[in-house]
Amino acid sequence: MNPLSTAPALLSARLKDETATLHEQMHALMEQAQPFASRAQYVRFVAAQYHFQRDVEHLFEDRAIQAAVPDLQVRGREAAALADLADLDAAPGDAAIATGKVAMPEALGWLYVSEGSTLGAAFLLKEVKEKLGVSETFGARNLAAYPEGRAVVWRRFVSFLDAPGLSAQEQDAVVAGARAAFERFGVLLKRHFALD
Ligand code: HEM
Repeated sequence: MNPLSTAPALLSARLKDETATLHEQMHALMEQAQPFASRAQYVRFVAAQYHFQRDVEHLFEDRAIQAAVPDLQVRGREAAALADLADLDAAPGDAAIATGKVAMPEALGWLYVSEGSTLGAAFLLKEVKEKLGVSETFGARNLAAYPEGRAVVWRRFVSFLDAPGLSAQEQDAVVAGARAAFERFGVLLKRHFALD
């Protein structure tokens, strides 16, 4: 028997495969929202990003996620998004934290969505710099690469995801957490752009 044919899929591969449709839906929503059509539109995107990042960083307080992702201090863009809003003379508005009851292993799925979004953000950053005159130091800190670089920080995150230790059931819970996080970002986008 070929052992490769029975090897379980890596968690990172499962997450990518099993949330691909949700990622596509984010593209569709962004298309609908037109967040980069003007600075006024962009402010709505940054506010949605801020609330999402707040949900994600809330999870950083949990000891179990700190153990699973030991470099949390370099991750998260809540402060960056808030600084961007201040640059743009905007306020985030209120929203209750959505992750009050989320814990490991679901929390790892939320973090996957936030960290993965830093990859797509490279393209978004290019677009807003060209169209809106914002930058990594003014208005678009939330889309900037981490100081170490996007790829390095992402690969390290994937290595934490794929470290042995999670049972198949726990992996299912991580995937469920990722689904919930995509859904939350969608809800925030719809709310801030008054879609639906
Ligand atoms: C129109 C908006 C978006 C575009 C153009 C975009 C684009 C991309 C691209 C090109 C990648 C792959 C980058 C690479 O492999 O180097 C990527 C990955 C990813 N993006 Fe997006 N994205 C968008 C929005 C989002 C949003 C809103 C989220 C979540 C809130 C998100 C979550 C992710 C995740 C989790 C990955 C990692 C996939 C993996 O390799 O496992 N993206 N995105």
